[in-house]
Amino acid sequence: MSAVPEAARARAAALKRELEEHNYRYYVQNDPVVTDAEWDALFHELVALETTHPALLTADSPTQRVGAKPATELAEVTHRVPMLSLANAFTDEDLANFDRRCREALAQDEIEYACEPKFDGLAVTLTYEKGILVQGATRGDGAVGEDVTANIRTIRSVPLRLPLDPPLLEVRGEVLMLKKDFAALNERQAANGEKLFVNPRNASAGALRQLDPKMTAERPLTFFAYGIGAAEGVVLPDNHGALMDQLAEWRFPVAKARAVVRGASGLADYHRRIGALRPDLPFEIDGVVYKVNRFDWQQRMGFVSRAPRFAVAHKFPAEEATTELLDIEVQVGRTGAITPVARLKPVFVGGTTVSNATLHNEDEIRRKDLKIGDTVVVRRAGDVIPEVAAVIYAMRPANIREFVMPKACPECASAIARLEGETVARCTGGLFCPAQRKQALLHFAQRKAVDIEGLGDKLVEQLVDANLVRTPADIFRLGLQALANLERMAEKSAANLLANIEKSKRTTLARFLFGLGIRHVGEATARDLANHFGSMDAIMVADQAALLRVPDVGPVVAESIWRFFQEPHNREVVEQLRACGVAWPEGPPAERPTSGPFAGKTVVLTGTLSSLSRDDAKARIESLGGKVTGSVSKKTDLVIAGVEAGSKLEKARELGIAVWDEAEFLRNLRAN
Ligand code: IVH
Repeated sequence: MSAVPEAARARAAALKRELEEHNYRYYVQNDPVVTDAEWDALFHELVALETTHPALLTADSPTQRVGAKPATELAEVTHRVPMLSLANAFTDEDLANFDRRCREALAQDEIEYACEPKFDGLAVTLTYEKGILVQGATRGDGAVGEDVTANIRTIRSVPLRLPLDPPLLEVRGEVLMLKKDFAALNERQAANGEKLFVNPRNASAGALRQLDPKMTAERPLTFFAYGIGAAEGVVLPDNHGALMDQLAEWRFPVAKARAVVRGASGLADYHRRIGALRPDLPFEIDGVVYKVNRFDWQQRMGFVSRAPRFAVAHKFPAEEATTELLDIEVQVGRTGAITPVARLKPVFVGGTTVSNATLHNEDEIRRKDLKIGDTVVVRRAGDVIPEVAAVIYAMRPANIREFVMPKACPECASAIARLEGETVARCTGGLFCPAQRKQALLHFAQRKAVDIEGLGDKLVEQLVDANLVRTPADIFRLGLQALANLERMAEKSAANLLANIEKSKRTTLARFLFGLGIRHVGEATARDLANHFGSMDAIMVADQAALLRVPDVGPVVAESIWRFFQEPHNREVVEQLRACGVAWPEGPPAERPTSGPFAGKTVVLTGTLSSLSRDDAKARIESLGGKVTGSVSKKTDLVIAGVEAGSKLEKARELGIAVWDEAEFLRNLRAN
């Protein structure tokens, strides 16, 4: 081996340290301090040094994260300490039993437990010899796994070298794909016309077991540590909570949402807290894990078959299940949008029974390659609408049927048309279509529009079907007798409804405009229009140039508004409503506040506020010249965080955006 100049050796060592420091800041702490370009420059300098002096090339070099040659198969690895599984608990009773067994076995009144999320990924063990990562292996059957060292090295959050150098240390944890990385991967797959992955877990399993590490590197994985395996020559803490802190200090990613709690009530609180946090976590979890905190007590309790007695996995309801796609029908929305809906064999998922799932549009059905008769994976995460995630091809029967978009609207038989470049097919029936009419009426009557309390979907359905109401103005012409004749409608409730209808006549220009259901005119735009023009007549006669002068109104919105009022029957509806006595204060065009804490600011609300509703908070900010948006980005000026604020708050902190708590928000409202 040719001698390496001391300066080159020192520089290479410094570069390795610096690059790994930047990796840690970026991938573990989400707090990078250099740009990608600066990182690349350091990286290439190291590559150049290692090329000139191959002796500098060590296993812990950041250049070794990528570039290993493809393998022909994954070698077997026998685990020094078996990788066990966990017993499951599903109910409060299971949980109480676990706590009781621990108390009895340890003769204690109350036990301290370490709690952490149960990552929904793949268990791996990382072997460090003298502080250098020498091997990464999958769990396999618990006794023998597969050697995935080259693939593990591509995971930037896995340290290649530890800040200590004991002869042996095995760190155990889970490899997974972050939700955002999974979404991006599937977008790429779709763009390339390739198969979509069902969930992050499947995508990570595929990526981790690739023979070619370059393929793994293209599917970004991450790692969280949750324990250790074999260890020699290192003094470890005497409890699990402290071990997690120790691993974090050694720069392993560990769950932020971990906690040490006491007794069964502590466990139940933790389960509830993490359950609420689950949709906002950046990765998928399928439960939480409780471990008796003290290691000597863990040892005393021991194992039963292949699971420890001292730990349990408290599962959340599964968010995915398989079922049969019985049929695909279409639904007609307010604007005539035709949405295909999957009719499913009822299945219990995400804590409820699901028998319908939206399929969004025709392209989505093609993209997912769904055929009627398929067995499919259904997903329902949190309160999100259930969706069909994927087909299970292995179970595809011979007698599948293709979905064909109907030519005629199932509600009114008008033609269904799909315009060039649009993903959505629409019924061309307009307000002639009862389905659209019902949706339009509901939209008009909703709380955020003219607010007719008691006029819900059942009643609208009856009114339209009985041909009592065709346009919003008809609502104001309803008589007591006609209403009382409806099924399930007593005279008293009919009188109540009439009183509510009467009350709704006094409204605001913004609510009225929003209620008209003009495409692309949501609440915020309606308010902007009302403020800008001041009167209904001014809006109705505005041309597109005049509309474009409204803040936040672009060409698409301007065209939509202009077209709406070009339509004689839409102007007619407005006139009829005015004739029925629907009224609102009008005035000269208002000036937007140009000073004060919210003027011209883009604000995001997150978490729960205790003293006012989201809608009220929004209205107050807007009345003071601010704009409220739904997601945090570089354009956000201010985030107002209530309790249990989740990922938006985190993002705001990452981007260095000002954050106010509720008290500070209220102070600023009062000051204005
Ligand atoms: S401890 C002795 N902690 O769950 C038990 N496991 O069913 C060792 N898992 O194969 C596991 N998150 O892949 C533990 N915070 C966590 C975990 C966790 C996910 C997985 C792990 C294991 C399976 C056991």
